[in-house]
Amino acid sequence: MKRIAVIGGDGIGPEVVREGVRALEWFRARRGVELELWHLDLGAERYLRDGTTFPEAVRDAIAKDCAAVLLGALGDARVPGFEHARDILFGMRMGFDLYANVRPVRALSDQVVPLRGRTARDVDFVVFRENTEGLYAGVGGQLRRGTSDEIAINEDINTRKGVERIVRAAFAFARRTGRSRVLMSDKSNAMRHAHELWQRVFHEVRCGYPEIEARHLYIDALCLELVRNPGQFQVIVTNNLFGDIVTDLGAALQGGLGVAASVSYNADLPERVKLFEPVHGSAPNLAGTGLANPVATLLCVSMLFEELGFGAASRELYHAIEGTVAAGETTPDLGGPLGTVAVTDAVLARLLPACEPRSTKNSA
Ligand code: NAD
Ligand code: IPM
Ligand code: MN
Repeated sequence: MKRIAVIGGDGIGPEVVREGVRALEWFRARRGVELELWHLDLGAERYLRDGTTFPEAVRDAIAKDCAAVLLGALGDARVPGFEHARDILFGMRMGFDLYANVRPVRALSDQVVPLRGRTARDVDFVVFRENTEGLYAGVGGQLRRGTSDEIAINEDINTRKGVERIVRAAFAFARRTGRSRVLMSDKSNAMRHAHELWQRVFHEVRCGYPEIEARHLYIDALCLELVRNPGQFQVIVTNNLFGDIVTDLGAALQGGLGVAASVSYNADLPERVKLFEPVHGSAPNLAGTGLANPVATLLCVSMLFEELGFGAASRELYHAIEGTVAAGETTPDLGGPLGTVAVTDAVLARLLPACEPRSTKNSA
């Protein structure tokens, strides 16, 4: 029995996570996927109500008892300092040392690819984003705040251990999944201290993977190439901030933020809890409209099944999502006429024929 913590969060988070839960429950009821769901009331509402962000007891229970967390999104205009979100989100990513933020960029159908002359075959790569350090480490401060002499600093923290393990995780993933190319992206021409470390580590690690073509591009050039010819990429490894930015660009290539999923894990500790979350945020402009695309969250559920050892369920759900998108049964962000719930209905309806007990009327 796998225990899964469920956190809707803010804005459209609870709306899309509700659909993810429907998929989880569907597979539990009809495919015997053994799951236990633990619904957690965390997010801006809770924070504004009683000041709770990410209690230690919850953190410890997730670390000890849960195989996965399904998180919607965090971010609410009523908490402009983002403090609840940082506690919860970074409390898991960094607190559980989930150093690999793995974001597949894969188009579900030709129609969703926005580039002229490109099809879904041209958009199929995976970004390994470092998830625990870099400019997200929170090292820095402000001096003489509010004066004309103000100074604001965020340090870019790059440790040998941190860089090496994410680069290694990217190569190991490429080898394990039969991919033949890994690209590392940095800005070592400008950030000569921090990113020169990435250069050296990349060179060292690649020597252990002679069958894999290793390539480097500066992050600005990578952005250009991703739009010009995305088909050249299979695995991209980069730091925390560049990984954040480049996966929004990747989301655009695959049809938008409504269809971009991610998992964060510790590649050295396979038993450690894994965090599944769409790449998108709380989308306040969509919250409450019933039009948020649930596909990113449904893809998270498919990834969750894969990572937790339910490979058949993962593939079955993926193909149902793919069929639904290809049929144009989508929310407006993908050009379709449906709402959040109806898209999930369409996905689940695609699963049904294969599993409902067949009518016995005309048999025998
Ligand atoms: P966003 O991802 O919430 O929205 C960007 C655009 O994408 C908007 O036009 C939105 O309508 C659209 N979009 C996003 N998800 C969609 C979906 N499922 N279906 C259809 N369209 C979708 O980014 P933002 O507006 O920059 O941020 C809003 C808030 O979310 C901020 O507080 C931000 O900090 C937070 N955020 C949180 C996370 C997270 O929790 N992992 C990720 C990104 C942003
Ligand atoms: C993401 C988000 C977060 C990040 C924000 C909300 C801190 O943009 O998950 O992509 O930058 O990691
Ligand atoms: Mn982001």
